[in-house]
Amino acid sequence: MKMPEQLRQPIVTVLGHVDHGKTTLLDKIRQTAVAEREPGQITQSIGASQVPANVITKICGILLEKFKFNVTVPGLLFIDTPGHEAFTTLRKRGGAIADLAVLVVDIAEGLKPQTIESLEILRAEKTPFVIAVNKIDRIQGWRSAESASFLSSYDQQSELTKTSFETAFYKILEQISRHGFACDRYDRIADFTKTIAAVPTSGRTGEGIPDLLAVLIGLAQAFLREQLVLTELAQGSVLEVKETPGLGTTLDVIIYDGILNKGDWLVVGGQKPQLAKIKALLMPEPMRELRVEKKFTQVEKATAACGIKIAAPGLEDVTAGAPIRATPDKEKAEQLLKEFEHEREAIEIIREEQGLILKADTIGGLEALEFLFKQYPIREATLGSPSREAVMHADANADPLYRVLIAFNATITDEVRKLAKDRKISIIESNIIYHLVEDYQKWCKQTQEEMLKARLEGLPRPAKIRILPGYVFRASNPAIAGCEVTGVVKQGFALFKPERGQVGKILQVQKEGKTVEQAITGERAAVSIDGPTIGRQVDEGDMLYTDLTSDEYRRLKELVQFLSTSEQTVLQEIFELKRKLDPRYGL
Ligand code: GTP
Ligand code: MG
Repeated sequence: MKMPEQLRQPIVTVLGHVDHGKTTLLDKIRQTAVAEREPGQITQSIGASQVPANVITKICGILLEKFKFNVTVPGLLFIDTPGHEAFTTLRKRGGAIADLAVLVVDIAEGLKPQTIESLEILRAEKTPFVIAVNKIDRIQGWRSAESASFLSSYDQQSELTKTSFETAFYKILEQISRHGFACDRYDRIADFTKTIAAVPTSGRTGEGIPDLLAVLIGLAQAFLREQLVLTELAQGSVLEVKETPGLGTTLDVIIYDGILNKGDWLVVGGQKPQLAKIKALLMPEPMRELRVEKKFTQVEKATAACGIKIAAPGLEDVTAGAPIRATPDKEKAEQLLKEFEHEREAIEIIREEQGLILKADTIGGLEALEFLFKQYPIREATLGSPSREAVMHADANADPLYRVLIAFNATITDEVRKLAKDRKISIIESNIIYHLVEDYQKWCKQTQEEMLKARLEGLPRPAKIRILPGYVFRASNPAIAGCEVTGVVKQGFALFKPERGQVGKILQVQKEGKTVEQAITGERAAVSIDGPTIGRQVDEGDMLYTDLTSDEYRRLKELVQFLSTSEQTVLQEIFELKRKLDPRYGL
């Protein structure tokens, strides 16, 4: 049965490099402040917000008259995406469900790696797009007119400012054309099928937003009509999983195609593909970001494209980012469930060898983690929060640098934390994904240093002591004399005299009448030595060295970066002296 033709809102995905102003631009349209509430002020998930036709008509105002068209689509559904490099998958997913895109470029920064990556995604997905050349308020001398259309604001600028603006603006367009996309300022374009429209904007002052919305509506209505016809199968993706009082577990989702009815079978993919019957559909108010809204109204059906909250009993362990489908047909739902199970198996990595254990709450997050940690061996990368098993698996790693759990956006129970502590497994966690790599690298460096230092603890240190003439306190049993120290001397070190060999062992080191753990370069100390008699085997003025075995020498040589410069010099002297006696010393 064919559905009567019905148009849905175009989905407009906002893409671009980190901090170029995507969220701020949407905030300005919605008059909210989502950007300020984000951890680290970066976007790490896909958000959705509905901007209805009447609002667009109001914002665009006289521009619509000027360009001679009306808003006939029901509105626009904006999708905000992260600009950070790790979120390629989310950008791709955003790009894939988009009917149209806005590529945001900071006018001062120009094209950056994720701008270029976004261009490649748009090229691959064949998504038509508009360029928002953003932050025009930063142009030297720019006089801002709050929420004005770019065209009227531009007219108010001095000639000098206009020139600065044009230079910066066309520099960016030139960069984009070098990637094979012909583009121009939107009001200078004759054929929108051949030239990509660039709209100067400011998320801070709202300038250019009327122009941006008018261009998006114009393009959608002129070129995308066919694709905006609804299809039958409801498809979407989970943004968030929340507990809602009276409803239990609910899912915030974007429906990007089809119609969803109360009572339909909902199929959820991701970590644990599952099936549930939809109990209630809750709609946020227009102009609100689904991710942050609290007020909802119950509806019987939801038509794409929209952001909606779904209550369906029996849903457990659904993760954000999971794809969803919905259908009234139970058999079809079961078929869809099988497809999701196959998809999950393709993403999770489980290997038996040694390596890192990565955990993320979404497929997109997990893929981003695998990408960020691609230079390290990965033992397993799985969805969900770290469990007792994850700790045990980390514990099975012999290499100390893999005795760690890396968790993105995870909630870790006290039980798991305690087990990790007991097993000496570190947990590196963050809700800012790229911090995880930096933190892991720092942790590795620290762990390596601790390991090396621990090895140094068990070794004698290179030292030489000179028996100061006139400072012999006792000749023997033990011999005690004032000495000048180079390197590090400690109780227990064996001493040798060049050309003579081992003369005894250090019993004690004293400074100013008190026994001390060690004496170091430049210090004078009273050293008691068990073995020699001063005046016989050793004399005043003699130089004695730590008697390092060939093996100890080699181990010290490996830890040379932890030795002071004077210790390093003494170590070399010891080597040379020993070599004279034993040609295989240190080999
Ligand atoms: P990600 O989500 O992390 O990729 O960043 P984003 O592109 O969403 O950038 P966001 O909106 O968070 O803005 C980044 C910074 O730029 C914030 O400090 C904003 O206040 C600032 N900003 C955004 N748009 C403008 C603008 O038009 N003019 C000026 N002067 N500053 C802006
Ligand atoms: Mg953002």
